[in-house]
Amino acid sequence: MSSFPAEKPFSNGSPEVAVRRFGSTRLGAPVDEYTLTNGSGVSTSILTWGGIVRTLIAPDRNGKPADVVLGFDSLEPYEDRHPYFGTITGRFANRIARGTFTLNGERYTLAINNGPNHLHGGIDGFDRTVWKARSESTDDAAKVILSHTSPDGDEGYPGEVQAQVTYTLSNDNSLRIDYEATTSKPTPINLTNHSYFNLAGHDSGDVLEQELMIDAAQIVPVDETQIPTGVLASVAGTPFDFTKFHPIGERIAQVHGGYDHTFVVSGDQPGLRLIAKALDRNSGRSLEVLTTEPGVQLYTGNFLDGSLSGKRGARYHKHAGFCLETQHFPDSVNQPNFPSTILRPGETYRQTTVYRLGVSE
Ligand code: BGC
Repeated sequence: MSSFPAEKPFSNGSPEVAVRRFGSTRLGAPVDEYTLTNGSGVSTSILTWGGIVRTLIAPDRNGKPADVVLGFDSLEPYEDRHPYFGTITGRFANRIARGTFTLNGERYTLAINNGPNHLHGGIDGFDRTVWKARSESTDDAAKVILSHTSPDGDEGYPGEVQAQVTYTLSNDNSLRIDYEATTSKPTPINLTNHSYFNLAGHDSGDVLEQELMIDAAQIVPVDETQIPTGVLASVAGTPFDFTKFHPIGERIAQVHGGYDHTFVVSGDQPGLRLIAKALDRNSGRSLEVLTTEPGVQLYTGNFLDGSLSGKRGARYHKHAGFCLETQHFPDSVNQPNFPSTILRPGETYRQTTVYRLGVSE
């Protein structure tokens, strides 16, 4: 289990925000780190590079803190290619088949960066940009508000997009992420956060014994290049049935390559609802996920292979973390039966997701 990184002591009082220079990009742009601390022993640090959640520190049932997200100590490995540790992914999370789509009769060609497909917004997506930032704190929350203008044609997408992402850490131990975007031309948009959680601590080994529940009766099956086939499949009687708590590793060997699938979140009421819970029975730490989105991608760090040197020298091996990326379905732009991801001028895209930490006895 990890020890408490000594960057920010626990506060016993009001939420607060501290900012420090984290580094400079190779092109010389300064990158800052905003550390939000609440009044109940939880803190998180957010980088202006990629809007990355770099740390998330939470106590266990005995009050012992651990950093429960994977990441790095310095900017350099984040500026190198990495598996989207903690990033905002956009303009479009997950894959677009062959990096192409047609909108209003016009065909668009996007950057290809994942086999034959476009992944997570392309080669230099929202995860690889320096966001503008400002912070605020109130009696019950600390927040950092990030903004970014993506030019018309960025990675092949139409329209200039103004994006804003607000991270709010409140005294109830929720890290809330509010995404907003507007556009100058019709364009697809699908934003998420790509944090890799390990509730025993980022350096504690794999997450296979941690338990997960997802309120989803269906998944989005994919082909061999991880593009949806267009039909939804029931989870009943399959290793994808997480409607009750199961250890992540219990049935993972039956899923070729490990979990990397979108779950169709049950319930069609609009608004924020609880869709998943994760639990580490040893430490007692738990994580609840609430979202406005129709889907959540469960990704179990299948491509991690121990080659990355993470925070405090930690080696991140296969399944060292799990991601619960709340989003619309992959390739929605090419799938007429999936909920639309098209944003038009005059509209505002909004998505809200809350990661709520807790402890159980
Ligand atoms: C994708 C994986 C991909 C990972 C990037 C996930 O959202 O579904 O296939 O490898 O992101 O590291």
